[in-house]
Amino acid sequence: MKDSKINSFVSIKNQGQEVIKANNGFSDNQVALECIYCKKRYSSSKAINRCLDDGRTLDVVYDFPKIDPEEMKALWSLRRLSNKTEDRSGVWRFRDLMPFVKKPSKIISLNEGNTLFFRAKKAGDFVGLKNLYIKHQGMNPTGSFKDPGMSAAITQANNMNMKAVVCASTGNTSAAMAAYANRAEMLPVVIIPEGQIAYGKLSQALDYGALTIQIKGDFDLAMQIVIDIAPEIGIYVVNSINPFRIEGQKTIVPEILEQLDWNVPDRIVVPGGNLGHASSLAKGLRELKTFGFIKKLPRITIVQAAGSGPLYNMVTSEHPDFFEPVLHPKTLATAIKIGNPISHEKAIRGIKETDGWITKVTEQEIADAKAIVGQEGIGCEPASATSIAGLKKIMEQGTDRPVDPDETVVAILTGNILKDPDYTVLYHTDRLSDEYDLQTKIESKGKKIKSRFMNSPVLVGPDPQKIKKLILDRLQA
Ligand SMILES: Cc1ncc(COP(=O)(O)O)c(C=O)c1O
Ligand SMILES: [Zn+2]
Repeated sequence: MKDSKINSFVSIKNQGQEVIKANNGFSDNQVALECIYCKKRYSSSKAINRCLDDGRTLDVVYDFPKIDPEEMKALWSLRRLSNKTEDRSGVWRFRDLMPFVKKPSKIISLNEGNTLFFRAKKAGDFVGLKNLYIKHQGMNPTGSFKDPGMSAAITQANNMNMKAVVCASTGNTSAAMAAYANRAEMLPVVIIPEGQIAYGKLSQALDYGALTIQIKGDFDLAMQIVIDIAPEIGIYVVNSINPFRIEGQKTIVPEILEQLDWNVPDRIVVPGGNLGHASSLAKGLRELKTFGFIKKLPRITIVQAAGSGPLYNMVTSEHPDFFEPVLHPKTLATAIKIGNPISHEKAIRGIKETDGWITKVTEQEIADAKAIVGQEGIGCEPASATSIAGLKKIMEQGTDRPVDPDETVVAILTGNILKDPDYTVLYHTDRLSDEYDLQTKIESKGKKIKSRFMNSPVLVGPDPQKIKKLILDRLQA
């Protein structure tokens, strides 16, 4: 390369570094917690997650300085040139949207975010969409979409000098919390339903040093216990009821838009469990529209498992304003086995604002969709596959808000395939039934799930001729 060309690249790089330094995104902004219902405000330094008057959930609200969308987009891209964690992290790169941190040393990050985004041809053919994109949040450091939100919540815990944090979990929250709390030198306390956590996730909580308390009961009971005991012993709850979780998770919105060169998709599809994810998409979209980054809102589409779908039941019932929990939720997609989702009001608000929709899918539909995601060469855990299964269902059955085959749709995959390998192996060996026991691995109970896209292992003796034949036969198939 000629010297003059090199010199101009060096000068561009130096200018970039100057811009990054001059706009460091740390300030003394006003931050408060605001009740989503009565709008009462509380100091953000209070370790509360609900309105003290009416018990409703809270939003983090800011007195934002003026934001110029074009300048901001350039700055967010430029920050990737820096080697500082706060600039490279896919959460903190967007810290101008979540100005509750005063200085970089407070940030607890594992370089989360910046996850894989790709056009999904096979999954697109499966559901009947030309422009289907997959955003794989299972590529985060602990293997699930929980990491961006957890980075924010543990950073806030650090702001408040917390010594311990607690969560109830279906597995991924506990893995993420344990990892981030560990980095922040706080004690992670995990309360989980015994025998209902996939081993990939349980192993993480144990390895990362969490005090792991198993209860005989389901997630909803574990959540209730957390809410009851946390204030009594002064530890900070970091389930998605914590509004700072939503702040970290909302950065998936600018990240997706960046990955689509700021072309707004028509729809974003997410699995629904405790409903923090859908709530955070809504907050991110709302704020970016207010600041003028985007003009339209993609429809938020939530997918629940049929045996665990209280939000679906609510919106399709004769009394769509009346929320009723599902008492004994059932699904092999253990991550979303939740009957009493804590963020249902925020999720409904998001669906209404974006003219979105909600659907539910069967165990068979989840298993089929998961196998198709595997064929993309990526894979996901069962709960994540509900995004693809739900899209297929809406395409086939239609709703009063049908999906146009020409729509640009982003389906979010929430967890890594390695989180729950038992499910995948049972499926591909044609032994998956809708009630297998995670701990005893007894798969004979319950209704058999058909392994429609099975790729079973082949057992042969150590016979080179037979092995050669198997390979050649497969090549010709
Ligand atoms: C893999 C996976 N997908 C989806 C969900 C549901 O997300 P949310 O609880 O935010 O609705 C969870 C929650 O634990 C999860 O772990
Ligand atoms: Zn209130």
